[in-house]
Amino acid sequence: MLLKISNVLIIIILLSVGICTSTLVANVSEECMGNTNSNFLFPSCFSGEVMYVYDVYSYAKTLDSGCPQIQTSNVNVSEGCCAFHNASEDCGMRYYGPNGDLTTYSDCSGSVSCQKPIGWNDTIKVCNQSVFLPQTNYMQLNYHCIEEIQICSICSCTVSGTSLYIWNGEYPNAVNDCSLTSGCSCSIKSSGGSPIQLIAFDIRFKMNLTSGDCAQRLHIQDGKSEFDIACDDHNAFKKRTVYISTSNDIKLRLDNSLEGSNGYFWIQVKAFESIDTLTLHCGKENATYSCNDNFTIISENITEFVLQDRINKVAESGNGVGIGTIIGVVVAIIVLVVLALIAYRLWKRYKDKNTKVDPKPDPETDTDDDEFFNNNDQTPITSRAPEAVLIRMNTNI
Ligand SMILES: *[C@@H]1O[C@H](CO)[C@@H](O)[C@H](O)[C@H]1NC(C)=O
Ligand SMILES: *[C@@H]1O[C@H](CO)[C@@H](O)[C@H](O)[C@H]1NC(C)=O
Ligand SMILES: *[C@@H]1O[C@H](CO)[C@@H](O)[C@H](O)[C@H]1NC(C)=O
Ligand SMILES: *[C@@H]1O[C@H](CO)[C@@H](O)[C@H](O)[C@H]1NC(C)=O
Ligand SMILES: *[C@@H]1O[C@H](CO)[C@@H](O)[C@H](O)[C@H]1NC(C)=O
Ligand SMILES: *[C@@H]1O[C@H](CO)[C@@H](O)[C@H](O)[C@H]1NC(C)=O
Ligand SMILES: *[C@@H]1O[C@H](CO)[C@@H](O)[C@H](O)[C@H]1NC(C)=O
Ligand SMILES: *[C@@H]1O[C@H](CO)[C@@H](O)[C@H](O)[C@H]1NC(C)=O
Ligand SMILES: *[C@@H]1O[C@H](CO)[C@@H](O)[C@H](O)[C@H]1NC(C)=O
Repeated sequence: MLLKISNVLIIIILLSVGICTSTLVANVSEECMGNTNSNFLFPSCFSGEVMYVYDVYSYAKTLDSGCPQIQTSNVNVSEGCCAFHNASEDCGMRYYGPNGDLTTYSDCSGSVSCQKPIGWNDTIKVCNQSVFLPQTNYMQLNYHCIEEIQICSICSCTVSGTSLYIWNGEYPNAVNDCSLTSGCSCSIKSSGGSPIQLIAFDIRFKMNLTSGDCAQRLHIQDGKSEFDIACDDHNAFKKRTVYISTSNDIKLRLDNSLEGSNGYFWIQVKAFESIDTLTLHCGKENATYSCNDNFTIISENITEFVLQDRINKVAESGNGVGIGTIIGVVVAIIVLVVLALIAYRLWKRYKDKNTKVDPKPDPETDTDDDEFFNNNDQTPITSRAPEAVLIRMNTNI
């Protein structure tokens, strides 16, 4: 059977996103329910590295796999139960933890190793119940190992490289008191003039609970324009591009008006679509906003559209060189192939219409094209059933 064109498109988009954003190696830890020796995930990195946990999934095997769904004493679970195989054998969803507490992510990120119990979820909303177990039976934790020497504390650091990171120096603990941290800044320069891309790893800024205003943010000065990454950019540990600069020299400043320890951030900094070297200089400067000062959030949500606009501008100005050019060519080829596919389908349809005597459209074969040409389905891709599978393709590159 032919794949649906819309599915092909989704896969292509995810593949391109994967090529563009994931230069980091994806490490995986998988563990099962029912195995009496190990009901825990044990992700770890080598010394001198810390982990960033970005996607945790809970998966169910098929009903006829016979895999146990709950912790079962004296049962040796077969290896096949505990690892992702393919979309027909595994169905699952992103794992958020009890009450969405995200502790599987937050307890492990920033550490060299950790140990987390396996959790589970009901599959009724996502998986075909006549094929898959009603509860997930194993978990998969996806993480990166980040070299500590590439990570800069926003209050004190100087480092150069092609892929760098900035976090609050206390990470995995919370940002220190406003008097010590507000005003800490990094200047970020790219050597070859490439735009700078900021990717959110973990954004958990806090509100002032009395006023209800966002009281922590990263302020971005990019030439004459200002932006910020603030409370509304909370990302639940999903990697996400939050900014692409217009200049090759930006300044990132922490504004923190909260007393005591509050909030966390960790971002990746790299040249956009190029392998330029970046240099970071970070240190404490006089606070623009001191303790209990109010500030107004500038960019409530840097929408996908704004980012897309930046990406287009970069493409137009031909700033992306080296690897960027290669990616451009690859994407162009993919687009051509897709156009050819569409043209072929249209031609075939046209031909069928002109040769078929039966005037009634066949609903079985007609839906494919209609879904593509008239897509009223507003469901975000991530909430569609085989979410985890598609995302996996992205990270496996
Ligand atoms: C992470 O994955 C890479 C590639 O599979 C592997 O070489 C490396 O040893 C892994 N790191 C750890 C800490 O397991
Ligand atoms: C499970 O496997 C271990 C060794 O692999 C064996 O000693 C034990 O008897 C097995 N238990 C059961 C219930 O099969
Ligand atoms: C998934 O794996 C099973 C067993 O290896 C195989 O029979 C099946 O064809 C695979 N399905 C897909 C979609 O690759
Ligand atoms: C279970 O899945 C639903 C979505 O289907 C999600 O909202 C919920 O947070 C998940 N539960 C856990 C424990 O991750
Ligand atoms: C669920 O799986 C069964 C058996 O493979 C199939 O007949 C049925 O159409 C599936 N249901 C849905 C909603 O996909
Ligand atoms: C919250 O804001 C109010 C007034 O805007 C201020 O008095 C209070 O100290 C702030 N709370 C914290 C924890 O900074
Ligand atoms: C910071 O403030 C102090 C005192 O207000 C002032 O002397 C100093 O020059 C300021 N530093 C900068 C970099 O503006
Ligand atoms: C901060 O904002 C709150 C309400 O949003 C207001 O009551 C307070 O006076 C403001 N404080 C300052 C110093 O502007
Ligand atoms: C932010 O997003 C919300 C809903 O997604 C929208 O209503 C609002 O106008 C956006 N704000 C800005 C400043 O773009």
